[in-house]
Amino acid sequence: MRRILVTSALPYANGPLHLGHLLEAIQTDIWVRFQRLSGHEAYYFCAEDTHGTPIMLKAQAEGISPEDLIGRVAAEHRADYQGFLIGHDNFHSTHSAENRERTEAIFRALDAAGHIRRRAVRQAYDEQAGMFLPDRYVKGKCPVCKTPDQYGDSCESCGSTYSPAELIDPVSVVTGTRPVERESEHLFFALTSFEPMLKAWTRSGALQDGVANKLDEWFTAGLKDWDISRESPYFGFEIPGAPGKYFYVWLDAPIGYIASFEHYAKTHGLDFADWWGAGSATELYHFIGKDILYFHTLFWPAVLAGAGLRQPTGVHVHGFLTVNGQKMSKSRGTFILARDYLSKLPPEALRYYFAAKLGAGVDDLDLALDDFVARVNSDLVGKVVNIASRCAGFIEKSGGRLAGDLADPALYADFIAAGSGVRALYEAKDYAAAMREIMLLADRANQYIDAHKPWNLAKDPARTAEVVAVCTQGLNLFRVLIGFLKPVLPEVARAAEAFLAAPLTSWEQLASPLLGTALAPYAPLFMRLDPQVVRALVASEPLAAAAPAKPATKAATKAAPAAAAPAEITVDDFAKLDLRVARVLEAALVEGADKLLRLRLSLGDSERTVFAGVRAAYAPESLVGRHVVVVANLKPRQMKFGLSEGMVLAAGPGGGDIFLVTPDPGAAPGMRVK
Ligand code: 2FM
Ligand code: ZN
Repeated sequence: MRRILVTSALPYANGPLHLGHLLEAIQTDIWVRFQRLSGHEAYYFCAEDTHGTPIMLKAQAEGISPEDLIGRVAAEHRADYQGFLIGHDNFHSTHSAENRERTEAIFRALDAAGHIRRRAVRQAYDEQAGMFLPDRYVKGKCPVCKTPDQYGDSCESCGSTYSPAELIDPVSVVTGTRPVERESEHLFFALTSFEPMLKAWTRSGALQDGVANKLDEWFTAGLKDWDISRESPYFGFEIPGAPGKYFYVWLDAPIGYIASFEHYAKTHGLDFADWWGAGSATELYHFIGKDILYFHTLFWPAVLAGAGLRQPTGVHVHGFLTVNGQKMSKSRGTFILARDYLSKLPPEALRYYFAAKLGAGVDDLDLALDDFVARVNSDLVGKVVNIASRCAGFIEKSGGRLAGDLADPALYADFIAAGSGVRALYEAKDYAAAMREIMLLADRANQYIDAHKPWNLAKDPARTAEVVAVCTQGLNLFRVLIGFLKPVLPEVARAAEAFLAAPLTSWEQLASPLLGTALAPYAPLFMRLDPQVVRALVASEPLAAAAPAKPATKAATKAAPAAAAPAEITVDDFAKLDLRVARVLEAALVEGADKLLRLRLSLGDSERTVFAGVRAAYAPESLVGRHVVVVANLKPRQMKFGLSEGMVLAAGPGGGDIFLVTPDPGAAPGMRVK
């Protein structure tokens, strides 16, 4: 059994969580749940990141104490994480006794070992405001890549970190004046002494290749000692032996990982040295975004080493979240708050979508809202849950008990055999590939049911045993899929386990199929997403706050469709249209066209193919059998994907907001619509 400690980055206690935070929390949570299902001892620790100037100033602006602010925000963060089923073992705070003690201890250890240097620095000072200017209150050009408008501590463009005094053409954010320089004594951590150790650690397998390469660039550019002190006024921990000086927030923030552990350890019998001591046999993983790489792959391992503590086994880096192809940005108001999502939509839809798109690399991930609806409805509802809903009723009607044998043990064995591949993909954090494997299996399970047609067998009372056999096979395949998906969909899995009356606590249990057991009554396990509700996630976005330089954002264009009123026409004009009722025989995705579905339609005495731009709103299988209205005498159009012989009528602006026109029941295919 492995012993594994996992963290995700600590959220700042000055604002609400958005879906970018949740991307990381969900990625981490899936991995921890996966490790537990694999039988390992795994802990997931996190905390509020509470210190620093922005939090101090925000509390001042609200007229409350920083303690009150961080307490309030922490409560909101906890609720949001819980809403997304993030299973932290402990969610602590950097403004805690454990963190103060551990930060002081680490500082003393570093100082005693000669890793802290004191020297006077000339620092930006705002004469008008009468204060030293902390990093984020000076802006200017990045000294490394020359990108303008960067904060004084790090560059959003190239990721370099530096001190505010190094900025080119600096201005004070507080007064807009050009700061002067004043001298004060600062404390530095001697990062440069750790270069050999960091180089070795970088190539120890702790990092993704691309990340290790990025570090090489930093090594080539040369490491610099790190300023870990800030002048009063500052919300943080005062540095022992240096009155009026405070630890920079980025020193005590990662130590918050340890503090969260220690707070938990007190009541759970875990030993500090066992988990954090040099040479610890346990594993330590940090999940972070690429924006805070420098802190976690240079400063943090060096601080740990300098204090005589262990190294992280791995730092796993993910990319940024974009929404409909646009960068999520707090300042531009283009981010979706966790609580806004939760007030409208189920957490597991997003957990699944993120999993389906998260590879092992550092690529950015786009939450394309139309694709989100299509993917969740098609995969979770149309493929996975569909298996259970197709089979459950037949078993219920036939006595509520599964058959005593598997009808197709070889197929079941295939599913179990696929499990090792799925597990390897989870371990490698390639969830996207894992989800693809699982959905291919779901397709096979549905094909099995399609081939055996229990709905036909059920018409003949003499064939009840066959019905039960087919549905027993189907439900056992479903159970394996649910087991594979359990790290991603903990609540759906819990409900499915209740229905199957078989709790699942380890992968090994899947090897034995459920046979001869009674089922609990079936209740729908997951509801289709309503595209209108999903669209409203960005409709409620403060578009007015978007950068004025770019008024025609994609979202704005979509939100205000040009509803051009047609010119008046005569009855004769209208009579030119041959509108017909049609029945959808087949519906399929179109390779290379993310908006289209290919529909095969029956018009009673003839059939035809029509391409319809309704993919974001409808899963293909949900359309089969339904009636639509088609313009039957539209001149056929040759499209890239084939010939479209007509047009299906629908209402709405498009994208996920599109509603097919359906005649009342009774209208038959081929009937003229007039
Ligand atoms: O970038 C951030 O949001 C920081 N609050 C992350 C801190 S992670 C750890 F080092 F504490
Ligand atoms: Zn830069």
